[in-house]
Amino acid sequence: MEMKEKQLLKELNKIGIALSAEKDIDKLLEIILEESMKITSSDGGSLYIKEKFEGDDYLQFKITRNKSRRFPFKEFLLPMDKNSISGYVSITGESLNLKDVRKIPHELGLRHNESFEKQIDYKIVNMLVIPMKDYKGEIVGVLQLLNKKKEYDMKLGEPETIPESIIEYTKDEEEIILSLASQAAILLERTKLYDEIQKLFQSFTEAMVTTLDARDTTTSGHSRRLAGYAIEFAKVINKIDYGRYKEFKFSEEEIREIYYAALLHDVGKIGVNEGILLKKNRLSDEKMETIKYRFNYLKKKLELSNILDEISETEKKILSDIDLYYQFITEINQKGFINEIEEEKISKIASIEFIDVDGKLTNLLNEFEAENLMIKRGNLTDEERAEMNLHVTYSYEILKGIIWTEDLKNVPEIAGSHHEKIDGSGYPKGIKEEEISIQAKMLAILDIFEALTARDRPYKPPMPVEKAIDILKSEVELQHLDKELYDIFVKERIFELYKEELNRVVRI
Ligand SMILES: [Fe+2]
Ligand SMILES: [Fe+2]
Repeated sequence: MEMKEKQLLKELNKIGIALSAEKDIDKLLEIILEESMKITSSDGGSLYIKEKFEGDDYLQFKITRNKSRRFPFKEFLLPMDKNSISGYVSITGESLNLKDVRKIPHELGLRHNESFEKQIDYKIVNMLVIPMKDYKGEIVGVLQLLNKKKEYDMKLGEPETIPESIIEYTKDEEEIILSLASQAAILLERTKLYDEIQKLFQSFTEAMVTTLDARDTTTSGHSRRLAGYAIEFAKVINKIDYGRYKEFKFSEEEIREIYYAALLHDVGKIGVNEGILLKKNRLSDEKMETIKYRFNYLKKKLELSNILDEISETEKKILSDIDLYYQFITEINQKGFINEIEEEKISKIASIEFIDVDGKLTNLLNEFEAENLMIKRGNLTDEERAEMNLHVTYSYEILKGIIWTEDLKNVPEIAGSHHEKIDGSGYPKGIKEEEISIQAKMLAILDIFEALTARDRPYKPPMPVEKAIDILKSEVELQHLDKELYDIFVKERIFELYKEELNRVVRI
């Protein structure tokens, strides 16, 4: 075998490998065009892909290259008919080796359009136009190469001097490019299919999460925003050149993985009792109504005793304070934290006893009401909190049931660890430090930040960013969140990188 042929075989092999490894359609098209130009020493080339538009097939002008001229590129659609050279090839499925584009054989009925050459001060001498056929022999695109040069690296000058540097495309080249084009066509189809499956899965997942989020109006949109932030966070970590994570790089697949983990991290909330999930205050509106009725009843009763002069000193005090007590209870009901003085006051109010309508001795607040009003932090009792916490376990179990591709196999683990803490005090597993993946540590930060700053919670105004950062900081000091990641989050202002309004459709 001659040296040149050996070199060509090597080159073809390399292209084959590069093509089959590429999952991005645009990059795939670039490789096909650029490598074909290189093998044939072509000065220019273009690639058209068959696309449907309003029910009809067209050739979409996808990419173009010219080694000697620069010009602006615009995608356009070309009809699949015999009025253009590429259209002709797409219809007949035959390749065209035009030795002189100004002397196209009559029987083809084709004319070369010179307007483009004039525009860029160029001259096209010859052309090799090859159909790209898939394994069924169907056309998926057209590859157009032009001006084969004596040397690939030479630049073509003035239009009138161009013909001197041009030589003919050989039959061998036609065949090589034809076979390369079919290989590319098959890969293109595969990539398109892969792309479609990805899009199908992404849109299905997003639709499902949107539906789930809609059930919980208090956190609607939370997961989508978290996923948006997560992508930006991962991209930033790839860029930074300081700290513990400077060498850390997420691949495109890993970014997609963290996106899905973020999107689905709370999917387990589907298993949590709605009353707990939607609880917005310590006590529901209905329960508060009952309390109001009870307070009113006691007030009326004491007023009557007062009129009849059958009231004790203690009762007199209760009567004078009862409106304030009720006011106090309504305020407590909406508070996020209570202190010890408030706790004592609640228990004092709860301990007031009286005979109710049914003649039974009753406390002004029953045990359930007092317990809920005395929750130190948040609005869930210990029991309710335990059930709420189960959502992570449910998330993990639901996601474990999905047959993920190799690229996304860690989604259940990442999603299932978003409430783990560095010091091991998190849930469900109580794992710590190195046992928690970096992705889960990122989600932990974003989850808290998003929950605090969310704009669409009906019961509370969004917290200013700086205050939310303060809370994150105290979580870092408590050894709950990863300090390095927190530093990156704040320093690089990750929260400003994702704008929901602009990113309705997340490209991953
Ligand atoms: Fe969660
Ligand atoms: Fe969450």
